[in-house]
Amino acid sequence: MNKIFSFPPRTADTDYLPSIQFPDKLYHNMARIGTGNQGKIILDRFIVFEGIDGAGTTTQIRLLAERCKQEGIPVQTTGEPTENCIGKTIRRILKGEHRVHPSTMPLLFASDRNEHLYREEGILSWIEKGFWVLCDRYIFSSLAYQTIENDYPLVRELNDRFPLPRILFYLEVPPETAIHRIQTRETKEIYEVLSFQRKVHQQYRKVLSAYKNSGMEIKIFDGTAPMESIHEEMWNFLKKFRY
Ligand code: TYD
Repeated sequence: MNKIFSFPPRTADTDYLPSIQFPDKLYHNMARIGTGNQGKIILDRFIVFEGIDGAGTTTQIRLLAERCKQEGIPVQTTGEPTENCIGKTIRRILKGEHRVHPSTMPLLFASDRNEHLYREEGILSWIEKGFWVLCDRYIFSSLAYQTIENDYPLVRELNDRFPLPRILFYLEVPPETAIHRIQTRETKEIYEVLSFQRKVHQQYRKVLSAYKNSGMEIKIFDGTAPMESIHEEMWNFLKKFRY
């Protein structure tokens, strides 16, 4: 555990860049460098689920976690925004309880993510202990959602420091269908409007294409298919990564 929190010696250059400066040490035992042309750190056993609001990521994570447990695979489910203090603040903003400048949002999500990865009981520690980590949303959400109101390079720069998952599952659902699905939810969030979800949907296409050669496995599912059949397809895809 110590190595996760051991920062490099403080020098003028490294003072404010710990997560950029120490990934090699940090991921030494549990990650491989992606084989693609982007040279990114990729975390094995880390699986991320993405899609617009109402795409069904939460349901698929639940089904997959149950299946893993049945098969004796140690699994940890998680998601962003997290349940920690930064994640809770984000949720309050999403519910409309606080207003912040749009450029604050990518910073908050990146801070929440940093904690999610590096805190004592966080993604890295779970992976190091041998768990498969199934994560509802990650950097790709920031790149799809926060780039509606901010420049893409700014959001990318904030998220470039984070490692990639071994696998990215994307649930493709038309915005109209997704909005219809979430209409029944009791609490509405600020992003849950059709015009915004249409833009997010478009941004996701750009994001998926930007990461095509990153070395991470990207699998796109028809999110309008029955949930059980999506789950079977996912499971069959995952079998080849079992080790
Ligand atoms: P979501 O997973 O939909 O939570 P819930 O279903 O419990 O409401 O996530 C909440 C919202 O947060 C969703 O609209 C997407 C948004 N979000 C971002 O805009 N950027 C991010 O980086 C992340 C992780 C989420």
